[in-house]
Amino acid sequence: MKLLVTGGAGFIGSNFIRYILRARPGVSVINLDKLTYAGNLENLAGLESHPRYSFIRGDICNRHLVSDIMSGGVDAVINFAAESHVDRSIMDASPFVETNVRGTQVLLDAAVAYWKERLNGRAAAGAERPVIFIQVSTDEVYGSLGPEGRFTEESPLKPSSPYSASKAAADLLALAYHRTHGLPVIVTRCSNNYGPYQFPEKLIPLMITNALEGRPLPVYGDGLNVRDWLHVEDHCRALELVLFRGRPGEIYNIGGHGERPNIEVVQMILRLLNKPESLIRFVKDRPGHDRRYAIDPSKITRELGWRPRYTFEEGLAETVEWYVKNRFWWERIKSGEYREYYMKMYGE
Ligand code: NAD
Ligand code: TYD
Repeated sequence: MKLLVTGGAGFIGSNFIRYILRARPGVSVINLDKLTYAGNLENLAGLESHPRYSFIRGDICNRHLVSDIMSGGVDAVINFAAESHVDRSIMDASPFVETNVRGTQVLLDAAVAYWKERLNGRAAAGAERPVIFIQVSTDEVYGSLGPEGRFTEESPLKPSSPYSASKAAADLLALAYHRTHGLPVIVTRCSNNYGPYQFPEKLIPLMITNALEGRPLPVYGDGLNVRDWLHVEDHCRALELVLFRGRPGEIYNIGGHGERPNIEVVQMILRLLNKPESLIRFVKDRPGHDRRYAIDPSKITRELGWRPRYTFEEGLAETVEWYVKNRFWWERIKSGEYREYYMKMYGE
C-alpha cells in the first residue's frame, strides 16, 4: 500500500510516519510537506534513506504537484497538513483558510480525478481497491462544552476560532466529495494530542520547555479550561485502524477519556520536573477560549476495537522525559536556529 501523507514533517504526521513504517512492512510513504515554521525534517531524522519512505517539499495548494504525485500511484491519502495553532489563527486567519480549506479542496479534487481514472483502468481487470482519503480533523470543530456531556459524531459543528472554523469547512468539503463524487472519504476528529516532537508553542511542550529554562509558565484565564489529552501514538493507532478497516463516508471521534483542567496539567509537569509552582503566571485569557472539550469514542471502540494504551500519567511522564533528553531538538526551534538551517538547505 502506497500512502500519500501530507504534513508529515509536523508533530502528528511525523509520529504517524515512524509508526506506520514500523508497524506495517507492506506500507510505503510519500511525505508531502511545505515545511512551514511547524514542519521540521529533524522530526524524521534517520528515515532519509529508508527504502519505503520518500519526501517531497511542496504545498498541498499546488494542483499540478498534487496531481503529479497521485498519478504516480497512491492507494490512500492521509491529510495532516494544516495550520494548527489557535493563537496564530487569532492573529491572522489567512494561512488557515488557504491551507486548511483550499489545500484540502485541491487534494480532494486530485483524489477524485485520480480515483475515477483508476476505476476506469481497473474495471476491465475486475479488481479494484478504493483510494481512501482520510481527513485528519479535530474535536475543536464541535466548539465548547459545558461541565457535562461529550462530543459524539452527531454533535453540531460550532467552531469558535478561525482555526477550528477552517477545519470544520474542510470536514464538510471532504464529506461532500463522498456524497457527490463517491470518493471514499473518512473524517477523524481527535482530541488534543501530546507526545514527542510537538512544537513548543502548544500547551504541554511550552510548559515543559519553559520550566526547564526556568521561565514563567503562562496559564490563560483561570486555568480551569479542560482539554481531553491523548498520547500521539494512540492517535496513530486509531488512524491505522481507520485506514485499513474504517467505513467510507463515516466520521470517527478519537479520544481517550483524558480530561484535565489546564492548571492540573501544568502542576503535574512541574512536579515531574521538580520545579516550583511559583513559575506559574496567570495571564490574559485567549479570546473565544473554548471552556471544555471531551470526546465520546464509543463508535471507534465498537466498530474498530480501538482503545488507548497510554494513561495520561504514563504518557505525560514519558513525554517530559523525552523533552529532557532531546534538549537539542527544542532549543534549536526556540532559538530560531532551525529556520536558518532550512533557509540554507532549501531557500525560502
Ligand atoms: P503541526 O502544525 O505540527 O504540523 C503541520 C504540518 O503541516 C507541518 O509539517 C507543516 O509544514 C505542514 N503544512 C502546513 N501547511 C502546508 C501546506 N500548505 N502544504 C503542505 N504542508 C503544509 O500540526 P499537528 O499538531 O501535527 O496536526 C496535524 C493535523 O492534525 C492537523 O490537521 C490538525 O488540525 C490535526 N489535529 C491536531 C491535534 C493536536 O492536538 N495537535 C488534534 C487533533 C487534530
Ligand atoms: P493549545 O495547546 O494551544 O491547544 P488548543 O487550543 O488547540 O486546545 O492549548 C491547550 C489549552 O491550554 C487551551 O485551553 C489554551 C491553554 N494554553 C495556556 O493556558 N497557555 C498557553 O501558553 C497555551 C499555548 C495554551
